[in-house]
Amino acid sequence: MIFRQLFEPVSSTYTYLLGCEQTGQALLIDPVLPAWERDLAALNALSLKLACTVETHVHADHITAALRLKRETASRIAYPGRSGAPCADLHLEDGRELRAGGVALMPLYTPGHTDDHFCYLVEGRVLSGDALLIDGCGRTDFQNGDAATLYRSVRERLFTLPEDTLVYPAHDYQGRRVSSIAQERSRNPRLGEGRSLDQFLAIMRELELPYPKFIDHAVPGNRQCGVCPSEITDDLKQYCEQMEASPQG
Ligand SMILES: [Fe+2]
Repeated sequence: MIFRQLFEPVSSTYTYLLGCEQTGQALLIDPVLPAWERDLAALNALSLKLACTVETHVHADHITAALRLKRETASRIAYPGRSGAPCADLHLEDGRELRAGGVALMPLYTPGHTDDHFCYLVEGRVLSGDALLIDGCGRTDFQNGDAATLYRSVRERLFTLPEDTLVYPAHDYQGRRVSSIAQERSRNPRLGEGRSLDQFLAIMRELELPYPKFIDHAVPGNRQCGVCPSEITDDLKQYCEQMEASPQG
């Protein structure tokens, strides 16, 4: 399997490109609107054809490039079934594999950050979305998030995976790229082995995070598979405009 981790700096999002070397079919997990041209260039450089874009959940911090990439490549759009997004071509369910050539993606229902959240297992890796971040986790105070539910998702569904499973999160704000189940189990400061449910609930309650500045545009835009608002203030335009080409591509 071809595997690439691509970083988008406006929302600090990692997009994952998975490709089948035999058939040339590819998947993109959590593509981000400002970076759709980068994603196309990466696919072309590897002679891959995009079969499907896949969301871990309806995002609140960026707008997906799913619809744009569908227009460019005729790719299909997969969303978690529970998101109920009518724009999606495929609605994923827990335990029902999504295949692109020889690449098999296994959805793992992991609510708590949102109530539609899936992680995806693929070849010794878990693409952990916003459920489990490196030394952290996604917030649980919007979109039907629930801290106790997230605790159970991580402890019961992720921390029971083989301990050498690599953890690839949807975000990192400090340049970290990959972890493992063993590492998160032993030292995640919120969810690691020493933390009880009550301790986790207190940690999440005390975060006092600011209201997300793009959520009011992102959630409705993502429920339409990636539509930018027609009216947007200057400071938010970066979420919709194409990002600068970088030497890393
Ligand atoms: Fe999220």
